Amino acid sequence: MSNAKFITIEGIEGVGKSTHMDRLVRHIKAHGHSVLTTREPGGTPTAEYIRDVVLGHNDENIPDIAELLLMFAARSLNVENIIRPALLAGTWVVCDRFADASRAYQGGGRGIPMQHINTLADWVLGDLRPDITILLDAPVDVGMSRTTRRGNPDRLDVERAEFYTRVRDCYLDLAKAEPERFVIVDASGTLDEVGALIDALATEILENK
Ligand code: TMP
Repeated sequence: MSNAKFITIEGIEGVGKSTHMDRLVRHIKAHGHSVLTTREPGGTPTAEYIRDVVLGHNDENIPDIAELLLMFAARSLNVENIIRPALLAGTWVVCDRFADASRAYQGGGRGIPMQHINTLADWVLGDLRPDITILLDAPVDVGMSRTTRRGNPDRLDVERAEFYTRVRDCYLDLAKAEPERFVIVDASGTLDEVGALIDALATEILENK
């Protein structure tokens, strides 16, 4: 078995996932590990195509169930074609969102019963579980004000504050239920303040290897 770790990064919109993920990856590389980054929905050409379909604005209504299934279809591609082979080859994998995003958005946000999502997760992931899930957490108004400034909102970005409050609450519940896997990072501070928290966490992860 390889010691390569599978790390996922989660959080509502505007918590700075991409920036802090880059920072974490720099630490992992500096420790001499090979590391691959991927994202969900996406990560492979077909999964990126699904991303465009599910996040794009189109004339046809996308039922919540279709949204969930598309997320898991993309996830299956990412897991089988990218994540599992990398981990088997000893490469660390850092993934921008994973199955917890389906629990938080389609479960918490849309109200799909968690048992359906967990059944899909068991089926699609088999025994694959993230070793560590970093939850970047900030109040909904903080996240939303950052995304509004960014412009060009996708189909989920235009959801309202109540939706994101349910998503955030669900993420916090998931973290509470699995404290050995989740690390909650307070993402409400400045980029430098949150960056310092990521630096400390990276040291902890790399030294406990
Ligand atoms: P982002 O990766 O740029 O943050 O955008 C991905 C969007 O897709 C975000 O709004 C969260 C949403 N999403 C789900 O609703 N369910 C999922 O399973 C995943 C991976 C993402």
